[in-house]
Amino acid sequence: MSSKDVRILAIESSCDETAAAVVVNGRQVLSNVISTQIPLHTLYGGVVPEIASRKHIERINQVIREALEQADTTLDDLDAIGVTYGPGLVGALLVGVSEAKAISFAKDIPLVGVHHIEGHICANYIEDTSLEPPFLCLVVSGGHTHLVNVKDYGVYEILGRTRDDAAGEAFDKVARAIGLGYPGGPKIEQKAKEGNPHAISFPVAKVADSPFDFSFSGLKSAVLNYMNGVQMKGGSVNEADIAASFQQAVIDALVGHAMHAIDVYGATKFAIAGGVASNGTLRAAMQEACQQKGVAFYHPSPILCTDNAAMIGCAAYYEYLRGRRDGMALNAVPNLALGQRVDF
Ligand code: KG4
Ligand code: ZN
Repeated sequence: MSSKDVRILAIESSCDETAAAVVVNGRQVLSNVISTQIPLHTLYGGVVPEIASRKHIERINQVIREALEQADTTLDDLDAIGVTYGPGLVGALLVGVSEAKAISFAKDIPLVGVHHIEGHICANYIEDTSLEPPFLCLVVSGGHTHLVNVKDYGVYEILGRTRDDAAGEAFDKVARAIGLGYPGGPKIEQKAKEGNPHAISFPVAKVADSPFDFSFSGLKSAVLNYMNGVQMKGGSVNEADIAASFQQAVIDALVGHAMHAIDVYGATKFAIAGGVASNGTLRAAMQEACQQKGVAFYHPSPILCTDNAAMIGCAAYYEYLRGRRDGMALNAVPNLALGQRVDF
């Protein structure tokens, strides 16, 4: 490693994963430690914000220690600290932000606040170290569904977004309705393997005059109505067929919008990101559709799709290069919009 290398400790605590990573020059991941709270929140059928914050406090020091140890790095070796400051659960975000401020102050090293969704997009830079902007990216997570034009490092134009539920949220809600529990995405994907994706025709709403916007709440209602209809007639629902048909409807909407955007913007590179991007059936469908158009398709490996700190370290590096430095006034911004920069 050369003396010009930038070694960043990154911290992520926006939802139900406490994570820390050490990343060199944005793309070389020396460690990526994730402590998930999913089994705990599964008891309640979803993330309980109070419990999430408390668990982050309990876990964060150990997670950071592990990330440093695995990277054979001490706090004195660091060039900067990157931390997610939004969007997310305010109490959860505050744990990471406070920790990062403490380390930055104690060691007198720069602090760089990172947008969580920009982190998800940057996971693609880690997976494929030759990827450079511009490219189009579909971000599909539990809280966000965005079609984004990544014009340059840290420069984003939002082409479309969901008008109601995020794609991951739809997976979680439908999984709950058919009794699969939390988190819905992986459980639906698993169940769908036993079902027929064309058994039930679930409609996906189009948003009038906004070809790149999404709407998933109608799909969720269609699933519930279908189940009620079958049950009222004394029948029993086939969960595998519902899971497969619902998943197919989401994939059709995501792939359809993505291909339309590729055509309109003449894109040659297309990436996906976020928790839902770990869905194998979605990846295969996107891969095939991109291939037919001769467009290069990028997707992070599943561990980099769901929440992690390596992606935050990558985003922090490019923000660091762009000159972003946050002081001790850095605060959590739960509703931070994509592309928005808040100066404290
Ligand atoms: O990106 P992420 O880890 O956290 C947020 O920033 O929201 O995404 C979590 C979301 C959850 O809604 C989860 O159900 C969904 O991603 N998810 C999946 C899969 N794995 C996680 N959705 C579909 N298929 C999957 N295999
Ligand atoms: Zn996320």
